[in-house]
Parts: sequence; structure tokens; C-alpha cells
Amino acid sequence: MAAYDFIDHTYDVVVVGAGGAGLRSTLGLAEAGLSTACISKVFPTRSHTVAAQGGISAALGNMGDDNWRYHFYDTIKGSDWLGDQDAIEFMCKEAPAAVIELEHYGVPFSRTADGRIYQRPFGGMTTEYGKGIAQRTCAAADRTGHAMLHTLYQQSVKNQAEFFIEYFAIDLIMENGECRGVVALNLADGTLHRFRAHLVILATGGYGRAYFSCTSAHTCTGDGGGMVLRAGLPLQDMEFVQFHPTGIYGAGCLITEGSRGEGGYLTNSQGERFMERYAPNAKDLASRDVVSRSMTIEIREGRGVGKEADHIHLHLEHLGPDVIRQRLPGIAETARIFAGVDVTKEPIPVLPTVHYNMGGIPCNYHGEVVTLKDGNADSVVPGLMAVGEAACVSVHGANRLGSNSLLDLVVFGREAGRHAASLVKPGSTHRALPTDAGDLAISRLDRLRHAKGPRSTAEIRLEMQKIMQSDAAVFRTGESLLEGCEKLEKTYASFADVSTRDRGLIWNTDLVETMELENLLGQAVATVRSAENRKESRGAHAREDYAERDDVNWMKHSLCWVDDQGKTRIDYRPVHLNTLTAEVEPIPPKARTY
Ligand code: FUM
Repeated sequence: MAAYDFIDHTYDVVVVGAGGAGLRSTLGLAEAGLSTACISKVFPTRSHTVAAQGGISAALGNMGDDNWRYHFYDTIKGSDWLGDQDAIEFMCKEAPAAVIELEHYGVPFSRTADGRIYQRPFGGMTTEYGKGIAQRTCAAADRTGHAMLHTLYQQSVKNQAEFFIEYFAIDLIMENGECRGVVALNLADGTLHRFRAHLVILATGGYGRAYFSCTSAHTCTGDGGGMVLRAGLPLQDMEFVQFHPTGIYGAGCLITEGSRGEGGYLTNSQGERFMERYAPNAKDLASRDVVSRSMTIEIREGRGVGKEADHIHLHLEHLGPDVIRQRLPGIAETARIFAGVDVTKEPIPVLPTVHYNMGGIPCNYHGEVVTLKDGNADSVVPGLMAVGEAACVSVHGANRLGSNSLLDLVVFGREAGRHAASLVKPGSTHRALPTDAGDLAISRLDRLRHAKGPRSTAEIRLEMQKIMQSDAAVFRTGESLLEGCEKLEKTYASFADVSTRDRGLIWNTDLVETMELENLLGQAVATVRSAENRKESRGAHAREDYAERDDVNWMKHSLCWVDDQGKTRIDYRPVHLNTLTAEVEPIPPKARTY
């Protein structure tokens, strides 16, 4: 192995990832006076949160009656009763304060005529426990994530957080089950950095790029999940992958659910507004799992639109140019560029597209990573926290409601900062790192940098993406999932035969993509194995061979470990059916109605 030198750093806390969750944590930590490093493989304002369109939920009640308890109920129902009710209570109750705080930090929200934050309807968001439609999603036109990310970055810089930009985190430094830091590669000059910290917070986002067609950026490679698996820890509820109903056909780009919130609707080849049949109450604003399944059924039964009858139309023409210019300017541009469509005149061709991972790194509502150890399903992993899409708190359970993601980032990013500040005294002394700290990360980097096998990174990645797309889709069967497991096992094994061509360390995108692929592969395996194992249908996990939700046997979180050979082990954690306080009653499981 070539010789590598480290540049060493010591911080109170290190945050990996600079999307909404990473920046909100970083800001809180810096405000609390903790020395904070935020490591990001992209410039912070290019993180994937920038692509979030429709908005952030909070029961502000600016545009009609609302109450955080309704939001709590909707989120539990949306999760198909797999969400942890204590964490959901925490999120929904904290939401209004967290959003007002964003407003005060400077997020340029759209406004009502009387100057309040504008709120639009979103799928599954109701008033009075399902009776009415809530206008709960606070929006900055259709560029809410963009507005939030810029504000949070500016505030973090103002508070002296230190950024390590275009640094790729390779692996965690673990010592006897405790996280002591992280090793990262400076992409620009090829130097290697060893960060020692009392706490590492993973805010690395989802792993959408395990699929062929997704709304996620190319950077969404689940790097935190990959590091956690290599640290011998499990991932939770990986079988639950959300398909957003309206990705642009062929391109995959997101067309916000806010477009249906503003009055847009879907039609099939007969011009029928088919959602009225599947969800007579919520119609086009049913939760995403329901809309995606309904669209898939329409296409399967021959009522898709287009030459191949393989997609669906989303209509916005009737909204008129003024509403579109004011509320949906970004998607008008996206539809023009990626579908060649003028949304004021023609429908947009759309298809359910992978959008979000409900599963991730198991953690409690403070952001502490937990694992199953000695029979304790809430055993905290010292030194390690996770927030945002990388984490599974679990507030989204089996299906996330639209606009609860930006909320999750902000509420739990904020809480992680607060909790870290309660655990770590600024400037407190660090123990020395073990002498071999970082060696595993370096041997991985060196192995991949000099890999000379017969298969290219791109070839293995495409194979994985195609398998995931066809075998772990909107609808699944035992047969498709088993086939997926077998095929992926071979693809995973073939990573031993990967080749890289660039042997340098400076801007070696070949090497970075290969490390990202390794991260994706572990999570792809965990996804299909957990999906094959779960013999019921719940939320986004729709099995044709087990069509019903089975609360007796399956109201539990899956935990999946993946070893370095791609072999999996599955176990479980109980769902928290208790609330955090007496301010709200737990919601017992109910039959599905839409
Ligand atoms: O449709 C959207 O604007 C996406 C929002 C979300 O995933 O929360």
C-alpha cells in the first residue's frame, strides 16, 4: 500500500453533509459555542435540499383552521402506523416554532395578502382528523429548499462554523463501538484529513441513486449509510422507498406535489380523472404511495398515455398563467426544458419516480444513533448521531407525507444541535485516538484507487440500478424480490472485480464514484433483502402476494446488517406506539381509507 499522511483536526462536533439537516445542525452547534466542522462533498448550497420544491409543513393555521394534533394524526396515518408516535409528536409540535425561526433567519417565504407565510395543501394533510383539507405546507414559491439552504448556509457562516467544502468522507473512526471521528479526502488537492470529535453527526442524505430513475441528484449516494454498515451497525426499514407520483416521464425530474396542491390533476388516456375512483375523498391529494400505485395500475391496465401507453398526464393548464408564474415558476421551467411542454397550454407527461428513502440510520428523536444490543433495541451508539434523510427516526414510517421532509431536516437538525450542546462542553479535552485510527479508511481508498479488475464502476452501477428499478418497484412480489436478491448478490460480489483508471488523488472523480458505488451497493442489498423479508403490504411497500397490512406480525421496524461480502442479517425494533407527553393520545391502527 502507498504511504499516506494525515492532516489532523480536532473539533467538538463534526457534521458530515451540508444539506438542510446538516446545515441546521451546524448552525445550532455554532450558535451554542461548540467548535464545529461541517464536511461536504459539494458546495453547501448545491446540496440536494436545493431541489426541494413544494414546501415545509407546519400547522401555523395562516390560511384556515389547523392544529399540530391534526398534523400528528395525518403523519401517523400517512406512515401506515410504522412511524414512532413519540417522535412524530415531537416533530409536529415543534414545527411551528422551527418554521417561524426560519422566517426570522431570513427565509423568503411567499406571502398571503396580509403578509403571513403562504401555505398550500399537500397530499395527506387534513384538518379535524381527516375531515377537511389542510393548507399546511409553507412555501417559497416552488423553490422552498433553495430558499432554506441559502439562508441556513449564510447563518452558519455568520456564526463561525467552519466548512470543509468538496471533502469526501470515506469512513468513520470507530473504537470499541464508539465513534471517535471521521476520515475525509480533500478532492481539490488529494490530501487526507483525520477529524477527531466528541460527536459525529451524519447528515449525508438518501441513496436514491441506487435506482435507475429518481428525482435525486447524482450526489445522493447514501454515504453515511455506507459508513454505518461498514462500522458493523444496522440500517432500519430499508424496504420503504417512496415513489413520487410526478417525476417527468423519461427525465425523472421532480414536478412538485404543490402543483396538485394548487389544483393540478392527473388523467389517463381516456381523459378520466382516475384518482376519483381510487381515493374518493382525497383524490389527487391522496398520499404518495396511493397515487403512485393508482397510476401504475392505470398504466398496467392499458390506460396510460403516449405512444407506448406508459405514462400519465398532469394538467395545470386550467390554473392560468398568473397562478403558474406566481406559485409554480420553477416547474414551468423544468417542464419546458425536460419535457418540451408549455404548462399553460399542455399537460406534463409524468411517471412515479423514486424520490425518498423512509429507511436509514436508526436513531432516537434527539438524533442519537441507536442499535439493537444485548436485547436493548434503543442502545445508543456513543459519539454518533444522524439527521435528515440519512436517518430513520422514524417519523415517516412506511410512507412519508410530502413536505414532512423539509420539516424533518429542520426539526431534528435543530434538536441534534441542542442535544449535542447538552452533551459536550465547548473545548472539552479529547482522548488520544488509537494509533491505527483511520487505517481502515486508507486501506479502502488505496484498494479502490489501484483496482484493476475487468468491470467498470459505471457498468456495475447501471446493473445495480436496473435490478432495483425492476425488482424493487412500486409493486413487488416474492418472486421479483427473490430474483432481485439473487441478482444483486452477484452484482455485489462483482465489485471485487471493479477497475478504476485514474490513479491520482487530485479531483479523482473515478475514485469518488467508486467509493459512492460501494456505499450504494450495501444499501441496495439491504433494501431488497428487507423487502423480501417483510411479508405484508404497508405504505410504500406494496406486495402483490401479501396485499394486506399485517399488524399482528409486522408492526415492527426491520433492522438489516450487511457484511463485507454482501451477506445480510435481519432483526427488529418495536414501533413506539406511545406518545411523548400527555398533550396528545396515541393513535391506534385503523383500516386504510383515502
Ligand atoms: O413534491 C414536492 O414538492 C416534494 C416535496 C417533498 O418531497 O416533501
